[in-house]
Amino acid sequence: MTTESTPANQEWAHRARQHLWVQNKQYARLEDPGELPVLDRGDGIYLWDVEDRRYIDGLSGLWVTAAGHGRTEIADVAREQMANLAYASTFDFATPPAIRLAEKIASLAPGDINRVYFTNSGSESVEVALKMARQYHYNRGDRKRYKVISRIGSYHGQTFGALSVNGAAYARRTPFEPLLPGAVHVPGINCYRCPYEKTYPDCEVFCARTIEDRIKFESPETVAAIIAEPISIANANQVPPAEYWRILREICDRHGILLIADEVINGYGRTGKWFGIQHFDVVPDIITTAKGISSGYIPIGAVLARDAVADAFVGGTDEAFMSGLTFGSHPVSTAVALKNIEILERENLVDNAAAIGEHLATRFEALRERHPVVGEVRGTGLLWGIEIVKDAATREQFPPEEEIGARLTAKLRARGLLTRAGTLIYVAPPLVINREEADTTVDIIDDALTEFEAEL
Ligand SMILES: Cc1ncc(COP(=O)(O)O)c(C=O)c1O
Repeated sequence: MTTESTPANQEWAHRARQHLWVQNKQYARLEDPGELPVLDRGDGIYLWDVEDRRYIDGLSGLWVTAAGHGRTEIADVAREQMANLAYASTFDFATPPAIRLAEKIASLAPGDINRVYFTNSGSESVEVALKMARQYHYNRGDRKRYKVISRIGSYHGQTFGALSVNGAAYARRTPFEPLLPGAVHVPGINCYRCPYEKTYPDCEVFCARTIEDRIKFESPETVAAIIAEPISIANANQVPPAEYWRILREICDRHGILLIADEVINGYGRTGKWFGIQHFDVVPDIITTAKGISSGYIPIGAVLARDAVADAFVGGTDEAFMSGLTFGSHPVSTAVALKNIEILERENLVDNAAAIGEHLATRFEALRERHPVVGEVRGTGLLWGIEIVKDAATREQFPPEEEIGARLTAKLRARGLLTRAGTLIYVAPPLVINREEADTTVDIIDDALTEFEAEL
């Protein structure tokens, strides 16, 4: 298989170059061969481009497509809901699909997380969660709490609040400064490259414990929330040790701070449990979600709140959360998301993610043993990252001028696997993947790494 730009793709890329502002890309380069594959069809874990080349969707788009592509029953639900009632003011009325979806999500969420606020994206969910945290304290008369602690290396979105709490280097902050005041960043967890140069378990999870020192420095009564992903994707796919989240929970409880789990990627089965936080036996105060909630069949997100958080908004009009979004609780979006979650349940896809994840763990370990450029493989369920290093003994990384991201991405793509590669090769296929398809995915990576190593 070759992915050299062919006439049909070239023609589309040329047209894109004229008017389409492709997100996160240098649009002036869209016509470079291979820069912009144009996709037009999907089924299960597969995608086809306009040249009818088939690829494995190794990243579920952007960790989105849980139920797989081509689900006509989801399309049918959207059509029925549109024909029946496409929209009614979401501030003044409720609709059955929004009520049903809120019930369903509350039934799946951990602990006493029972109230669901719908948004349209992950960034909006984070934005809403940050505002919810501030007003929670405000309503309780705790009016000095506005700071939010997040972690260097993490990603939370692109709206201004989300951007302010971002800590990932690739999510550029400087062009948009000044950002929100009160965004406080602490080192994230990374047991492979510990920011404190410690080693687990001797470290006793210092990276979590020391967050309390920072809170004391900031004055606890000024801190509204801590936001973190249970399994951090942007910070190189980190699965923290079990104690990490328990320590965060204890710190928050000691200082009256809300704990926000950003599950925009983790949520809805991706990690082999409905929510990533369920791996750690901790109940956060707020959970932010999007992506897998609808498998990308329609844009929608949701913010989930514990009873104690929601109860702080009970009272008069002033206590209400006036953060209305015209398309929040959209009838079509909620109907689609509900059908998506029903499919995940009916086909046991969360269990499938866990089972295939265990199989992948074994296959990836063998890959690490065979390939000197594989430093470590981290993940769970269908959320994996293969760390690529120049020297496994020293963990030295390839310098940017070697452009390993572009080279590895092209090699994987040429073999029929679409994903993101660079310091990490991310592997996060749709939850419908079976064992044979998972093996094919690993074989492709194996083959691409062999070719890559031969070039070194
Ligand atoms: C953890 C996390 N939070 C928030 C977001 C923002 O979501 P969206 O791109 O839907 O706005 C993302 C996006 O990748 C994410 O990974």
